[in-house]
Amino acid sequence: MLLHIPNVLTAQELADIRQSLDAADWTDGRQTVGHRGAQVKRNEQLPDSSPLKATLGRAVLAALERNPQFFAAALPLRILPPRFNRYQGGGEYGFHVDGSVMAVGHGEQRSHLRSDISCTLFLCEPDEYDGGELVISDTYGEHEVKLPAGDLVVYPSSSLHKVQPVTRGARLASFFWVQSMVRDDAHRRLLWELDLSIQQLTGDVPQHPSLVSLTGIYHNLLRQWAET
Ligand code: NI
Repeated sequence: MLLHIPNVLTAQELADIRQSLDAADWTDGRQTVGHRGAQVKRNEQLPDSSPLKATLGRAVLAALERNPQFFAAALPLRILPPRFNRYQGGGEYGFHVDGSVMAVGHGEQRSHLRSDISCTLFLCEPDEYDGGELVISDTYGEHEVKLPAGDLVVYPSSSLHKVQPVTRGARLASFFWVQSMVRDDAHRRLLWELDLSIQQLTGDVPQHPSLVSLTGIYHNLLRQWAET
């Protein structure tokens, strides 16, 4: 399921993040991928050790926490600390599938997260740069995604995807992975659609007698499929 979630960041949060990133020290993005990825990746990232990355990452996580759409669509169990990247001067990232298991933390704190959902939070307006579309390829063909600043796209981590070369300006984004309580994308999609239908019915006919049973069905399906 490819989903666009608008207005994840407020205008003030966006302005604060942009201001910090303008003054940031960037590093070669190839440091955080394996050999295969390094062949097709040309961008910059905030270093993993950067205190700024940690601070801005917490701001993104706080914004996700208050977003009911993100929760309903992703059913997050764990979220990898968000990273930040910049593409400019022809920078791009060729077709790849994201790594399936990601290390989190260091030393005794080190653990692993399975990437079920890939997320890109756009931090620049589309007219600030040329190119830079996120192209996601699935069984329905290729989808080009280039969203307003502050908007998020989520899609299955199993998808082949790329970022087109940025030929003017710079494209800033935050990106991160989610391990979902519901591993299977098709199951997550059913839950999301059922949730939307229940919300719609709740708005249209608040006292509808079927709401109790439909809500029960949602939770009993989630109980069947959730790993926590
Ligand atoms: Ni990727």
